[in-house]
Amino acid sequence: MPAQPVADSDVPAERTVDYSSVTLSQVIMPVHAGPGGAYAHGGEIIKLMDTAAGLAALRHCQFSVVTLRVEGINFLHPIRVGNYVEVEAKLTYTSRSTMEIQVQVTTEDVKIAKKWEALTAYFVFVALDPDGAPQEVPPLIVRNESERQLFQAGEERHNTCRIDDHYRTLCAID
Ligand SMILES: CC(C)(COP(=O)(O)OP(=O)(O)OC[C@H]1O[C@@H](n2cnc3c(N)ncnc32)[C@H](O)[C@@H]1OP(=O)(O)O)[C@@H](O)C(=O)NCCC(=O)NCCS
Repeated sequence: MPAQPVADSDVPAERTVDYSSVTLSQVIMPVHAGPGGAYAHGGEIIKLMDTAAGLAALRHCQFSVVTLRVEGINFLHPIRVGNYVEVEAKLTYTSRSTMEIQVQVTTEDVKIAKKWEALTAYFVFVALDPDGAPQEVPPLIVRNESERQLFQAGEERHNTCRIDDHYRTLCAID
């Protein structure tokens, strides 16, 4: 008998922030270390962030999605081999075909029970149709003041990018 899904995910008509939010967890092992061996390779962390953001975007729109832009990668706290890392991704803004996702990374030294904010960055994904052209996505429904403020900030970033011919280098966040 074919296996049955554990749960049918009813896709709501209204796509809220909570609906598509994603958390990925990873213990940083030696294979994830940079050349020095003691700390995580930054690229490994960025890959986790890209994956979490892409999954949130995919859950929101259910079309093929690709990374279009990444803003604000500043490592604030070192991530060591042996740390337990959590990557939280949530949509902050949608336009016609693009979705902005806030990705926050915390790192925990489990042995001493201390947790730090390692970094926060904003990933922009674009939905593509089967021919690779930008595809319209469902609007993001915001439900509280915090979500409204994040949406507004995302809209400002998007509009700044759109009005400047040189947005690839000049569209910086505060
Ligand atoms: C995504 C892509 C198809 C956009 O092409 P385009 O000709 O600029 O298309 P459009 O002008 O219609 O723009 C589509 C959307 O992207 C936005 N956009 C395009 N370039 C952008 C940038 N650098 N930063 C932010 N937004 C950008 C536009 O504002 C528009 O947003 P909206 O539809 O939500 O209003 C094209 O840039 C691409 O294929 N990039 C590669 C993406 C990829 O493969 N990523 C994975 C790499 S491994």
